Amino acid sequence: MSNRRHLMGMNDVDRADIERILETAAGFEDVVERDVKKVPTLRGRTVVNLFYEASTRTSSSFELAAKRLSADVVSVKSSGSSVDKGESLKDTIRTLNAYKPNIIVIRHPHIGAARLTARWSDAHVVNAGDGKHQHPTQALLDLYTIKKRLGRLDDVKVVIVGDILHSRVARSDIEAFQMMGLEVTLIGPPALIPPGIVEATGVKVTDDPEAMSEADVIYVLRMQHERMEPGQNYLPSLREYARVWGVNARRVRPGQVVMHPGPMNRGVEIAPDIADSGVSLVENQVEAGLVVRMAVLYDLMTRPSIGTVIDIRERTGEWGAA
Ligand code: CP
Repeated sequence: MSNRRHLMGMNDVDRADIERILETAAGFEDVVERDVKKVPTLRGRTVVNLFYEASTRTSSSFELAAKRLSADVVSVKSSGSSVDKGESLKDTIRTLNAYKPNIIVIRHPHIGAARLTARWSDAHVVNAGDGKHQHPTQALLDLYTIKKRLGRLDDVKVVIVGDILHSRVARSDIEAFQMMGLEVTLIGPPALIPPGIVEATGVKVTDDPEAMSEADVIYVLRMQHERMEPGQNYLPSLREYARVWGVNARRVRPGQVVMHPGPMNRGVEIAPDIADSGVSLVENQVEAGLVVRMAVLYDLMTRPSIGTVIDIRERTGEWGAA
């Protein structure tokens, strides 16, 4: 397939790309509210969703997004596939590529897996999360959610609270938020803040939970145990973490909203009374995921300017891929 475009990370898009995708997503709101929730935009096109890691929101919304656009969809989870018999990523990609998909959406625990997918296939590739590196469609849907609720992006103050070190969401969000004029502060235990992040990005960093009081948006992250080094003591205990940095009714002041990419660990990083309250945008984020992913699929198939062609910028040696 000639003229392929990919969405590997937030450095594949600029401000104009993001504005266009958010506008397209807003246009799709009408489609998902109709009785017949389908448009023929991608009829005859094929989307493969290939997930090597657990997912509820990203996998279901990409599948539904492709179906809402009338694409043919093949969803493969590594568990239960021939990956269990030892098939390599390359052979899996070459196998699925034989069906001539237009787009491959991939989630994988290893940084760079999406880039390899672009190399080994003829499809446009979307990174649905690679290790602790990037999760660009999460950042796009987060921007969409904030803009929809607050009516603006410029000068919105966001605090991202929690396990920044192991978070691909934080990496993509920081880039996306800064590109769109939001002010970002990171809050968490020092052991869970990536070294060099201030120098690399210009964000503010603090371990003082009182800094949450300054924000318009409190963005809460879960402890990502699956990506933590065995034997490392990042925290005294989860109980201590919840007591100091947990987001609860005592922390949230009037006018603030709370976001979380999910899945939530209630009672650890977020208290149930906040998760279930009107200040929580968690379900709004899930709703946004559908229209934003429809917009990304549409944009990849129809526009010339999103992403890059194979020439994906390497990030080794900086905080983003440490
Ligand atoms: N936010 C997010 O990526 O959720 P899932 O792991 O459920 O896809």
